Amino acid sequence: MRLEYRKFYRLASKVPSVPGQLPILGLANRVFLASGEDIFKLMREIFSPIGQSPRKAWLTPAQLLIVVDDIEQLKKVYTIPSCVNRPNLYSAFMAPTGLLSSNGNLWKNHRKLLNPAFNAGVLKSFLPILNKKTQILIKVLDEYSNGNEFDISTFMASFSMDNILSTSLGFHGDSQTDKQSKLLQNFLGGMFVITKKITNFWLQYKPIIMLTKYYELEKQHITNGIHKFVKDFVDEKEKTFDISDISDKPQIFIDQLFKKRSEFNRNEIEDEIGTIVGTGYETSAYSLSLGVVLLALHPKIQEKLYDELKNVFRSANEEVSEDNLPQLTYLDLVVKEILRYWPPVSVIVRYTSDEVEIGDYLIPKETNIIIPIYEIHRNKKFWGDDADEFKPERFEGEKFKNVPAYAYMPFALGPRNCIGLNYATRMIKTTLAYFFRHFRVETDMKLEDISLEFVVVTKIVEGFKVKLTRRNFDGDS
Ligand code: HEM
Repeated sequence: MRLEYRKFYRLASKVPSVPGQLPILGLANRVFLASGEDIFKLMREIFSPIGQSPRKAWLTPAQLLIVVDDIEQLKKVYTIPSCVNRPNLYSAFMAPTGLLSSNGNLWKNHRKLLNPAFNAGVLKSFLPILNKKTQILIKVLDEYSNGNEFDISTFMASFSMDNILSTSLGFHGDSQTDKQSKLLQNFLGGMFVITKKITNFWLQYKPIIMLTKYYELEKQHITNGIHKFVKDFVDEKEKTFDISDISDKPQIFIDQLFKKRSEFNRNEIEDEIGTIVGTGYETSAYSLSLGVVLLALHPKIQEKLYDELKNVFRSANEEVSEDNLPQLTYLDLVVKEILRYWPPVSVIVRYTSDEVEIGDYLIPKETNIIIPIYEIHRNKKFWGDDADEFKPERFEGEKFKNVPAYAYMPFALGPRNCIGLNYATRMIKTTLAYFFRHFRVETDMKLEDISLEFVVVTKIVEGFKVKLTRRNFDGDS
């Protein structure tokens, strides 16, 4: 055994283990062919705050996972340069030089160049687009507001797709009304394959995936679908982009990318576009879907939100504006609580680029550090005995002051947090501000019967089944 391997296993052996692992195999038998629901349950079991932090699990005999959920240790992992990288697992997204998957100086330089695409001025310029797209969503959903049960996530997927293409690329498709939208089918199919490759990591080896049906799906939806769309889009942009057209406007993502064109090679441009659309679309779609189901399960909170909307808006179709957004203070608490209670990204992984001291242990170089967001958001030590209850009020000023910093992280924290954080929260607020003016939402599902699954983002195994009925916002006094 080479010296560095010996050191790796010696350091790892000192870290306490999570329960339920087999000798040598670790958790391999539990993840092999496991469904998204099995993986969510397994994560709950091994990431639950039992025992001390850090603690270790072996995903396979060669893949060490170090779980961290202590506040001081989290702060360290989020802020030190040797934990800023992501592991190879993220290559499943097939955009190796994009922000989500790249590491080192490439990531650092790109992040610096792209941060301005999400500054306050740019986000303000999105509001008219978000208003317009949300009005289309309301019209589409109106057809379903007859009290019959349906799965709302498909509608949120096409809505989010249109939003992200419009706001980040200036591309105006309409997959909300075009049910045959090829692009949407490719994104849905592409995310399905990516998810499979993350939850069944062996599919990331080409000789293995080639033996499965996922290879054909990958070619159809990703290579010949999403990648082809991005390639054609960039070809066109290369021909038409003129810096003088944008110099006096807030520069959306694609303009920022082309303004700094000389800093990116052609592959990097394509990977950054694929990354922003992929990350933005999937997380937006499921944060909205999870939020709508949570409010269906909590009718009193839904009514309180409706009352606020009645106080702030004069009509059901009044646009969300820079003036009325800050007045939606209860909505702000509701959105924070949605993202705490069912975080759309339930776990993240970092990769050590050096040995790191965490707590009482030295964690070897090239180790996966697991941050179990879902478990941290439900830890009673940080959130109190009612941590498992859905209670927006917990985010009110004084109460929230008792929650330790680094206990709330729906968008991760530190320099490698979500670049779309402010975009996402404004988008969720705008959408819900329309949605709940127009509809009352109910569900026959019971909170205690709902099972979540880990499929890159958090989803509900039973589906996002809701019933809508129309509100009479303009008639209610
Ligand atoms: C509610 C919605 C969203 C949630 C909960 C969310 C959550 C997250 C989290 C937890 C990470 C860190 C992942 C990790 O470290 O493994 C992340 C990264 C990222 N997110 Fe989001 N996200 C959301 C919306 C968006 C949107 C709308 C966009 C794009 C417009 C976006 C783009 C990205 C990108 C590019 C990264 C990688 C950033 C980097 O490494 O520099 N996200 N997101």
